[in-house]
Amino acid sequence: MRSPRPSEITPPAVWRARRRWLGQVVGGVLAGTVAKAGAQVAAPASGVWAGPGRQPALPARPATLPAARTSEPVTPYELVTGYNNFYEFSTDKEEPARLAARMPLRPWTVRIDGLVARPQTLDLEDLLRLAPLEERIYRLRCVEGWSMVIPWLGYPLAVLIERAQPLGSARFVEFHSLADHATMPGLRSNVLLWPYVEGLRLDEARHPLTLLAFGLYGERLPPQNGAPLRVVVPWKYGFKSAKSIVRIRLVEHQPATAWNVAAPHEYGFYANVNPDVPHPRWSQATERRLGQGGVWAARLKTLPFNGYAEQVAGLYAGMDLRRWF
Ligand code: MTE
Repeated sequence: MRSPRPSEITPPAVWRARRRWLGQVVGGVLAGTVAKAGAQVAAPASGVWAGPGRQPALPARPATLPAARTSEPVTPYELVTGYNNFYEFSTDKEEPARLAARMPLRPWTVRIDGLVARPQTLDLEDLLRLAPLEERIYRLRCVEGWSMVIPWLGYPLAVLIERAQPLGSARFVEFHSLADHATMPGLRSNVLLWPYVEGLRLDEARHPLTLLAFGLYGERLPPQNGAPLRVVVPWKYGFKSAKSIVRIRLVEHQPATAWNVAAPHEYGFYANVNPDVPHPRWSQATERRLGQGGVWAARLKTLPFNGYAEQVAGLYAGMDLRRWF
């Protein structure tokens, strides 16, 4: 990420969004659903209150994986959808909520190709029918030092990957985000190479925690959160979770990915959340949990693999995680 100034770590956008949210609490808009004023919505495994819903509802069943059913308070809807990183629109955190509304979402197709036996193009409705949607409540830890807890709706990315039948030579997966010059003013900046490309090792992409997400908070994804579909990889820094995906390509070699190409010494390909490996310009030992603990946000200890070590550490057995950061 571009170097955050101290004022940006809990920037005015956060406390402004939080102040608006608190205003709604006081105004009674959240009647009956908030445990106590200033607290977060309780986080049941399903049926999380959808806030001032602006997107169509997306029915989903509760998550089956215990790791996807945290009892931590979920981050208020207004912060999840009002404080975003979406550089195709802007490097500002509040602008995507306004600018991404112009993104052309219909028709939307995703091409899955490369080293697969069955390359194919699916439209959004085909994709939504591939498997039942689940609600998964995951922590999201941004490399910039803030975090949220978000109730996503989706199914394992493995479902789509298996459908395309990976060849034995496939070892990595590339994700390409939409790059639409007509509606994405951020593409004029050279902060990153466009389109935004992210990547995973194939075994990471097939891991049951890796989610193909179509919604959050009981609704379709808002544009600023990566509509109509994105990847969510909860044990990695947020930049690995590419938004608004149009192509998934299986390849043999480690792909060149947006942030790794822009600043290889700051953003590794693996980007597993690791409190012991500081970013060259700031510590990763702690994080600010936005929406919790008042205007400045609660300062929590960052956990290895973002708290999902039990599920994923085995993927990296024998790797020096300081070198492969
Ligand atoms: N995907 C695309 N295409 N463009 C981006 O700028 N930002 C990443 C990631 N995916 C980004 C992206 C970063 S840095 C983070 S922290 C998360 O999206 C933020 O997701 P959210 O806005 O839904 O919280």
